[in-house]
Amino acid sequence: MRRVYLDNSATTPVLPEVLQAMLPYFGEHFGNASSIHHHGQDTRAAVERAREAVAKLLGCRPAEIVLTSGGTEADNLAIFGLVRPGDHVITSTIEHHAVLNSCKQLQQRGVEVTYVGVDGRCLVDPDDVHRALRPNTKLVTIMMANNETGVIQPVEEIGKISSEADLYFHTDAVQAASKVPIRVKEIGCDLLSISGHKFHAPQGVGALYVRKGTLLEPLFYGGSHERSRRAGTENVPGIVGLGKAAELAVKGLENGDDREMAALRDRLESAILDQVESAGVNGAGAPRVPSTTNIHFDYIEGEALVIALDLKGLAVSTGAACSSGAIEPSHVLTAMGLPPERARASLRFSLGKQNTADDVHLAIQLVPASVERLRELSPLYNKASEVHS
Ligand SMILES: Cc1ncc(COP(=O)(O)O)c(C=O)c1O
Repeated sequence: MRRVYLDNSATTPVLPEVLQAMLPYFGEHFGNASSIHHHGQDTRAAVERAREAVAKLLGCRPAEIVLTSGGTEADNLAIFGLVRPGDHVITSTIEHHAVLNSCKQLQQRGVEVTYVGVDGRCLVDPDDVHRALRPNTKLVTIMMANNETGVIQPVEEIGKISSEADLYFHTDAVQAASKVPIRVKEIGCDLLSISGHKFHAPQGVGALYVRKGTLLEPLFYGGSHERSRRAGTENVPGIVGLGKAAELAVKGLENGDDREMAALRDRLESAILDQVESAGVNGAGAPRVPSTTNIHFDYIEGEALVIALDLKGLAVSTGAACSSGAIEPSHVLTAMGLPPERARASLRFSLGKQNTADDVHLAIQLVPASVERLRELSPLYNKASEVHS
């Protein structure tokens, strides 16, 4: 059976060039990057080259990059590195759990947190951020692109509000990196998280941009790695992979790969909507990353559709990978005002660099038929169609 993977927001396959770049660092180049002999210098140079590539992707200096084990650690380092009991934090209701659960933990530690909502298009209103400011606000943490809908937040406006109020702004750009150009100075952020496995590097490696002069308390203690901001021997093969993927992402954005991907995504979206009634895009009308579309198919259970499509060879998801299998409807879709049934009837399709027009063609063939089959079994749908006929 031909298998097509359209769940690249959950994770992406490592690209062959990335794997090739990494392989020598599992063998021949094995040194500890802190060792002063040849073997250590060799891997140190590789780590620093990767740091430069990541800095280029984000438009910052290499010294402002802290290499981490992924997006979750980068988010945690930004948040717990800055905030202390008595501080106030502003975040949004649509953040990834890496930020939301960190904020919940802060509340247990005597930190006040304001969760600003979103509108029906999944957009935070910067005025709401402004209104939430307090004298003790220390940090605003609002994501750049949402992982379920792909909606891009007005981070530049939020950055401006934060800098005028003289407080720190962190943005989780895990779902934005490689899909849209990122210039940290233009965003006006002090901290920005990325994760390698969302853009064709391996799982378990990421980075936090830390603006020069931002003092962070480390999450863990040990050696003086990463300028004492992140102790622990570096994951050299992973970091080399992250660097290569960052380099490819820069090239891709220069070549307009993002526009090509958006065209494929738009074709998928419009072909599905043309063929399936009572369906619609969650986040329509808002700026979105080119890779993602989140569609509700009323009268079905999203999980059932994921399984039906998987049996036909198409991998998609109902939203965040870590919440799949949970009975609760998506916190993002419900924050947008979707009723729970519609949130549960929603599917996320997300493209990666490896996907082709043929992949999209297969999805266009499979989705409408699978939705129809599930609706035939749905008493709710049959009742609704009786009313309409
Ligand atoms: C927006 C966002 N932030 C953070 C993370 C966590 O990143 P990682 O899987 O590298 O820990 C994810 C992963 O799904 C994400 O989508």
